Amino acid sequence: MTNQLDKKSQAWSALFSEPMSELVKRYTASVFFDKRLWQADITGSLAHADMLAAQGIIAAQDLADIQRGMALITHEIESGAFEWKLDLEDVHLNIEARLTQLVGDAGKRLHTGRSRNDQVATDVRLWLRSEMDLIIDLLVDLQKSLVEVAEKHVEVILPGFTHLQVAQPVSFAHHLLAYVEMFSRDAERMSDVRRRTNRLPLGSAALAGTTYPLDRERVARTLGMVDEAGNPQVCQNSLDGVSDRDFAIEFAAAASLCMVHISRMSEELILWMSQNFGFVKIADRFTTGSSIMPQKKNPDVPELARGKTGRVFGHLMGLLTLMKGQPLAYNKDNQEDKEPLFDTVDTLKDTLRIFSEMIGGQVNPATGQKEGGITVNADAMEAAVKKGYATATDLADYLVKKGLPFRDAHEIVAHAVKAATNHNCDLSELPMAVLQGFHASIEKDVYEVLSLRGSLNARKTLGGTAPAQVKLQIARHRARLV
Ligand code: ARG
Repeated sequence: MTNQLDKKSQAWSALFSEPMSELVKRYTASVFFDKRLWQADITGSLAHADMLAAQGIIAAQDLADIQRGMALITHEIESGAFEWKLDLEDVHLNIEARLTQLVGDAGKRLHTGRSRNDQVATDVRLWLRSEMDLIIDLLVDLQKSLVEVAEKHVEVILPGFTHLQVAQPVSFAHHLLAYVEMFSRDAERMSDVRRRTNRLPLGSAALAGTTYPLDRERVARTLGMVDEAGNPQVCQNSLDGVSDRDFAIEFAAAASLCMVHISRMSEELILWMSQNFGFVKIADRFTTGSSIMPQKKNPDVPELARGKTGRVFGHLMGLLTLMKGQPLAYNKDNQEDKEPLFDTVDTLKDTLRIFSEMIGGQVNPATGQKEGGITVNADAMEAAVKKGYATATDLADYLVKKGLPFRDAHEIVAHAVKAATNHNCDLSELPMAVLQGFHASIEKDVYEVLSLRGSLNARKTLGGTAPAQVKLQIARHRARLV
């Protein structure tokens, strides 16, 4: 069987008087990265062929041949036997050429009413949709890991910082749950992007639609491109359909924001692991030694995640710049959307996986229990809170409850902190007589207020750090993250 696509790779058609140079071939080809879209490409083609047959545009026998050929190709690709050819430029032409080789004329009929422009836009959407589903699952896993660790540390007191200065005591669990909020918004954002990704460009053809009586809604339904109510979601303007890459940019933006959260957590882990803090340890398998300093255990994983955040931001910028100023409709520029998108997905997935495990540990198959997550040094955390007069606000609030205006109370407490600094002790260690010297209304019950635990328990507003509140939040997350 002669393969016209193979011939075309020498010169596209009778119109061309010379073949492409090797350099241009290499420059314009995308097969070595876009072959990753093969499954989406076959799925999209099968849905298109099924519709062509249903509309009587191709014969039932053609459809059967195409299905048989695609099954063979799937097997060849999965087993590694498929021969990807640079001469055939991209994943689409490689698969179509092989199909024609395997099933003859039916293969040549597949491209009826279709262009690679709407084909590639469909493939990328299908591929990204399934990757986003995996990412949402990974975000759920990470949240679960954080909630599990939080559950065990509700009563552990961490210095809450503002400006990286000790501010007020907070529950360590409360701190972890702040990240759960961030990752839950990330998952929400991914689902939102998924909705706009899950729309069908196929049927836009090259740019203007096609003369064949296509049933685009049938294709959308076959591909699961439907809304919550099951209504098919089809790109409604052919020019926009082939050229829109908003979904890719939105995804890269959502991924970037997720990496912002990862980088914040990384930074905190790095600080907390340093000798100066000593708040947590991460398992050895997430750290590395130094080739020169034998005492070192470096937090390479959080550091690298912090670094990879920059790389993902770069992809977002790359995609935005790629689309900026492009005239309608499809331009070859768009081929450059893939590598940043692929790398964003890979980086994000690996990062989320590794963080889930680093925080929450791994299930030991022998015990069914998770092991090897972060270890928490509650004593070091508590010692650090005590260094910073973290209950000063509590003393001010105490005076306010005794009838003082807040600003006056604030001033009085500043004097008390100064006295404690001079005595080299915590506010709670100042003798009653000294405290009463600041204001006569101070009584013995102040010591409970000045204790770390008293301070923590008192912050029981919704979303506050009181263990009672934190437990409610944990229960809410547990119910949500099934
Ligand atoms: N490999 C191309 C891409 O990734 C497929 C579409 C090519 N279309 C075209 N008219 N050259 O964008």
